[in-house]
Amino acid sequence: MENRAASLLILTMAILCCAGRTAATVKRCPDCGHTRVPYLLSTSPDCGNQQYKVRCNAGVLWLDTLNSSSYLITSINPLTQRLIIRPPGLANNVTCMAADFKSQGILLDNNLPFNISSSNTVIGMNCSNEMLTFSQNCSSNSLCHDYVKRNLMAASACGKFPLCCLYKTGGSNNAYKIRVRKERCSAYVSFVNLDTSSGALSSWPEPGVEIMWELPQEPECKLPIDCGDLMNSVCLADRFGQRRCLCKAGFQWDPINAICHNIECPNWRRCKRRKKLAPLIGGLVFAAVAMLIGAIIGSVVYKRRDQNVERSAHFSLTKFREDMLNANNSAGKSAKIFTGKEITRATNNFSKDNVLGSGGFGEVFKGVLDDGTITAVKRAKPGNTKGMDQILNEGLTHLAYEAYHCSSNS
Ligand SMILES: *[C@@H]1O[C@H](CO)[C@@H](O)[C@H](O)[C@H]1NC(C)=O
Ligand SMILES: *[C@@H]1O[C@H](CO)[C@@H](O)[C@H](O)[C@H]1NC(C)=O
Ligand SMILES: *[C@@H]1O[C@H](CO)[C@@H](O)[C@H](O)[C@H]1NC(C)=O
Ligand SMILES: *[C@@H]1O[C@H](CO)[C@@H](O)[C@H](O)[C@H]1NC(C)=O
Ligand SMILES: *[C@@H]1O[C@H](CO)[C@@H](O)[C@H](O)[C@H]1NC(C)=O
Repeated sequence: MENRAASLLILTMAILCCAGRTAATVKRCPDCGHTRVPYLLSTSPDCGNQQYKVRCNAGVLWLDTLNSSSYLITSINPLTQRLIIRPPGLANNVTCMAADFKSQGILLDNNLPFNISSSNTVIGMNCSNEMLTFSQNCSSNSLCHDYVKRNLMAASACGKFPLCCLYKTGGSNNAYKIRVRKERCSAYVSFVNLDTSSGALSSWPEPGVEIMWELPQEPECKLPIDCGDLMNSVCLADRFGQRRCLCKAGFQWDPINAICHNIECPNWRRCKRRKKLAPLIGGLVFAAVAMLIGAIIGSVVYKRRDQNVERSAHFSLTKFREDMLNANNSAGKSAKIFTGKEITRATNNFSKDNVLGSGGFGEVFKGVLDDGTITAVKRAKPGNTKGMDQILNEGLTHLAYEAYHCSSNS
């Protein structure tokens, strides 16, 4: 009885501690159409990081900018924190003006973590003479003329206007904008990673503007108490003098998960186990004592029982095992009782080819379940109830093992 209560206690602990662990993970937004929305980017208030807003409309992602313009996002690379938007092109094929001329081109909010990367080559068309005073290539042999000549729409709208310029983004002037206006250039197009070193291009690629996003910094703080939510951090001035919840020595800021990550032992299971060894040993001693008392009481009671009581005790143990199998285990996969048919199918009718090993209890087969899960199937020797008991007990051992893993972490 005592034994059983201890097992149940461990199992309950297992479920509690493991549920707590998964709740701490970050929430990625659902896919937008066929596009994966990586974490940090947010399409709604309940997912992603609200500083990193993008908009999902009719299965397509858009980046909204200042002056209520929106640009289609054509690709996202979460590893390099870059995305590419499509510049809007020309308003029509008669006047050389950008489709976003009214909203002055691409203007990013410099309070947000997005900026224009240095990988873009911009071609400005229908430019004013003022442009000649900037360090941009507006010469008559500038590659922009080649583009205007070769692009049908540009040729039609901008061909008659002689001044076009070519420049690269990435300077402090254009970290947040590709601006169009009458006094500079009225139309533009942009290309990502365009190689202009060898002069003439054999063909012009698809236009795009590459935008980068900065990873979040440690949260700002005024008082030490402001850092209570960020474990292992202290409120200190960063190198720019801004007070932030900076991670303690031995910990490193993980901007994706917004935690201070232990760099001395990246494998949390091994570390926690070493650190929590004392309480763990205490727990094990307690469990051993409880089991011993249980066994003594059990054996005393057992001796006094008649045949009937023994049978019902055996039944309740079987029932208990069934309950255990039916309960959700800590990995989140619920246990399932399979029919003989399913198991026969999974092991290809207990084929000799599938035998993984054998012992006193019977044999172990490799099996493939209907959902593709690869599993080991133990078959007790016919008439060998001991073997059956052993197999059922291993189910319990497995759960107890999971419980051990978790309790060593709690
Ligand atoms: C401009 O576009 C219209 C349709 O939008 C088309 O009929 C016309 O031929 C085009 N003109 C030139 C010069 O490309
Ligand atoms: C150049 O842009 C101005 C607006 O800034 C526009 O009025 C003019 O028509 C454009 N020139 C051509 C040749 O389309
Ligand atoms: C666009 O935004 C800029 C900067 O916020 C502002 O100065 C300008 O008036 C805006 N233009 C329009 C057309 O909204
Ligand atoms: C402008 O670009 C052309 C073609 O790439 C190049 O030959 C020329 O030297 C450039 N001029 C300036 C001023 O950078
Ligand atoms: C844009 O932000 C990144 C940080 O994510 C920074 O490294 C880069 O220098 C910024 N670009 C410009 C042009 O300011």
